[in-house]
Amino acid sequence: MYVVTGVTGHTGSVAAETLLNAKVPVRVVVRDEAKGAQWKARGAEVAVASFDDPASMTRALSGATGAYVLLPPPGWGQTGLAANRAELTEKLLTALRDAAPAHTVFLSSVGAQHADKTGPIKTLHPIENALRASGKRVTFLRAAFFMENWGGSLAGALDSGALYYGIVADKKFAQVATKDIGLVAAKALLEPHASGVRVIELAGPEDLSLEDTVATISKLSGKSVKAVTVPTAAVAASLEGMGASKELAGWYAEMMDGINADHVAFEGKDAQFVRGSTTLETVLRAMITK
Ligand SMILES: NC(=O)c1ccc[n+]([C@@H]2O[C@H](COP(=O)([O-])OP(=O)(O)OC[C@H]3O[C@@H](n4cnc5c(N)ncnc54)[C@H](OP(=O)(O)O)[C@@H]3O)[C@@H](O)[C@H]2O)c1
Repeated sequence: MYVVTGVTGHTGSVAAETLLNAKVPVRVVVRDEAKGAQWKARGAEVAVASFDDPASMTRALSGATGAYVLLPPPGWGQTGLAANRAELTEKLLTALRDAAPAHTVFLSSVGAQHADKTGPIKTLHPIENALRASGKRVTFLRAAFFMENWGGSLAGALDSGALYYGIVADKKFAQVATKDIGLVAAKALLEPHASGVRVIELAGPEDLSLEDTVATISKLSGKSVKAVTVPTAAVAASLEGMGASKELAGWYAEMMDGINADHVAFEGKDAQFVRGSTTLETVLRAMITK
């Protein structure tokens, strides 16, 4: 039985779809039973559980040959972030410890090898550490910056003719489509390694800069959009203006500083490096024509 959490989200939906297409038994985990109906219709088992309730998640993950697990992202206005993340982490680790799936594929991130100076990515580092220390079979799927992240900036960029961001305009960095993350997660579940920790670092077909990104936006939209690098402190202020908590806004700024400094970067070492095939143009086209 392969268990997929986050199935209503970007990556979990693709992982579950891919596993169902491979004709293996699948259990999807939802918080709201109604969201499981479409998966049930496709032959999946549905478990109703939440990471906030470790007993329910333990039941959902029990008996798994392989489990796809992610740390649900915080709400945009979440305050007390560090404590909130620590509590959720504890609950997630409790469920994994008690359910003991034979193999866990954990959605981690580029830069999660570092304890700090990575913004929201620093919340994934303690989970990697704990899972490594557990001695269980686990895959860390360290995904690059999601191409879908541009969705939050697109309307403003098209309106104003400028994409304001905290990353140096001509700096190329790894970006990946969430579709490719789901595909690689399913493949990792279906092709487990023998034991211990496996690290997969996942990027898109090519590294891309802010300038490359606006060139694609301009091409697809027919509107000229330029890339404008702003100080990351200004990015944080602007995110706060859009309702982000001060802490979360600060974390995003820190992540951009980390990308600029090559600190939020792949570790290399013993990790497998994989490039997905979905292009930024494909992802942006779907968002622009929506
Ligand atoms: N953005 C990036 O650039 C980036 C890069 C690398 C890694 N990541 C990581 O990617 C992850 C997000 O992945 P994603 O985009 O696939 O997810 P997503 O689309 O944001 O969806 C989140 C999923 O988690 C579920 N969920 C929320 N709270 C839950 C809870 N308490 N218990 C159980 N399930 C819950 C949601 O279900 P409901 O329908 O019930 O809400 C939804 O299925 C984060 O851990 C983030 O750190 C992000």
